[in-house]
Amino acid sequence: MWGGRFAEGPSAVMREINASLPFDKQLWRQDIAGSKAHVAMLGATGIVSAEDAAAIGAGLDRVAADYQANGVPADDLTLEDIHMLTEARLADAIGPVAGRLHTARSRNDQVATDFRLWVRDAIDAVVAALEGLDAALLARAEQHAADVMPGFTHLQSAQPVTLGHHLMAYHEMVTRDLSRFRDARARLNLCPLGAAALAGTSFPIDRHATADALGFDGPTRNSLDSVSDRDFAIEYLTSAVQCSLHLSRLAEEFVLWASQPFGFVALSDAWSTGSSIMPQKRNPDAAELVRGHAGRILGCMTSLMVTMKGLPLAYSKDMQDDKPPAFEAHDLLGLSIAAMTGMVASATFRTDRMRALAESGFATATDLADWLVREAGLPFREAHHVTGRVVKRAEELAVTLDALPLDEMTAIDRRIDARVFDVLSVDASVASRTSFGGTAPDNVRAAIRAAQGDAA
Ligand code: ARG
Repeated sequence: MWGGRFAEGPSAVMREINASLPFDKQLWRQDIAGSKAHVAMLGATGIVSAEDAAAIGAGLDRVAADYQANGVPADDLTLEDIHMLTEARLADAIGPVAGRLHTARSRNDQVATDFRLWVRDAIDAVVAALEGLDAALLARAEQHAADVMPGFTHLQSAQPVTLGHHLMAYHEMVTRDLSRFRDARARLNLCPLGAAALAGTSFPIDRHATADALGFDGPTRNSLDSVSDRDFAIEYLTSAVQCSLHLSRLAEEFVLWASQPFGFVALSDAWSTGSSIMPQKRNPDAAELVRGHAGRILGCMTSLMVTMKGLPLAYSKDMQDDKPPAFEAHDLLGLSIAAMTGMVASATFRTDRMRALAESGFATATDLADWLVREAGLPFREAHHVTGRVVKRAEELAVTLDALPLDEMTAIDRRIDARVFDVLSVDASVASRTSFGGTAPDNVRAAIRAAQGDAA
């Protein structure tokens, strides 16, 4: 395609290092769509004849049908990339008129357009998948809105919370992830096609028409920026990293909760694996891999950022390396979201076990201290001290706080009376946490309703 000025062909290694076809063949749909929009515009503006434009458009459809039916052949690296391959296939199909397709464009604006279209599709797929995960979280939160579990700080039993509230914390994270992806999509939705190699073109092209045809909000505004910017892909990757970090934390909770010492969750058979040596094992491999994938997705983001750092304007071939990390991260993220959705939807939460542990860790000690402040007028610091002594006594007698006899408590502080039992159970504790965003079951149900309203 560019041999005019060369006496000899490239070496085999040159060919291999130069070729992106083995991975950018994934862009074939976007490449065909971009070329069809371009040639329609060339015909409409009279830059090529209407007849040639029609022939090229029809030829591109034939090439696409062939890719669809037989896959994209990626064995001939002399064709370098998907753009050259498609043009060569077009020439096979319709003859020399195919050579008019590349009028008023360059592979630089072509690949920038293809890649934007691909990232846009990737975002749409991730958004749909995350909405599915969110629906699963909301459904399980609803089911467990009032089920008590230990809430942790430092992974030590801290205060009772509801499982619904815990799951709704992930709903909040997923909601922010969705907004990051949607935001990235809105920003990327300008069309670089027509920036040509770097400076624009002297042909009377209509960039608004091609932008429109490809579903963009308009053309990009600076030709140099158009062919050299990859921040749309970086934004996709940073959003993917943040999302994968959230998934990884949820995955880690499933790993912990599925362990025998916790026993908070039983993963369904569909989301467990066995051991080849230990027959009793049910391993949470999918959750572990979601946790692991977060590291790889972060690596993809790092890869593209480091590729772009320090590149002068405009296009440099380094930028060809933009695609593999985006493709890899997208595949890993898609699998991770699907796996977490399946696990959340199908897990059995052992609410009896959660309750037992919530009751065993003196998790309502803060409720006792708050009661001493509210009902007996103690300063919080003094209430904290009195409560510490009550906890110590309960520990000595090996009972929970709400099972400690009243005379044991009054022996520590005479200001405690029988009304204290209203706050010492874990149910009373969570029901009392009615501050906005708190764990009370009524709050959780209201948060779910609000979320469902947002989604509808
Ligand atoms: N395969 C190239 C890429 O992915 C297409 C752009 C090539 N442009 C060039 N001037 N060599 O970046």
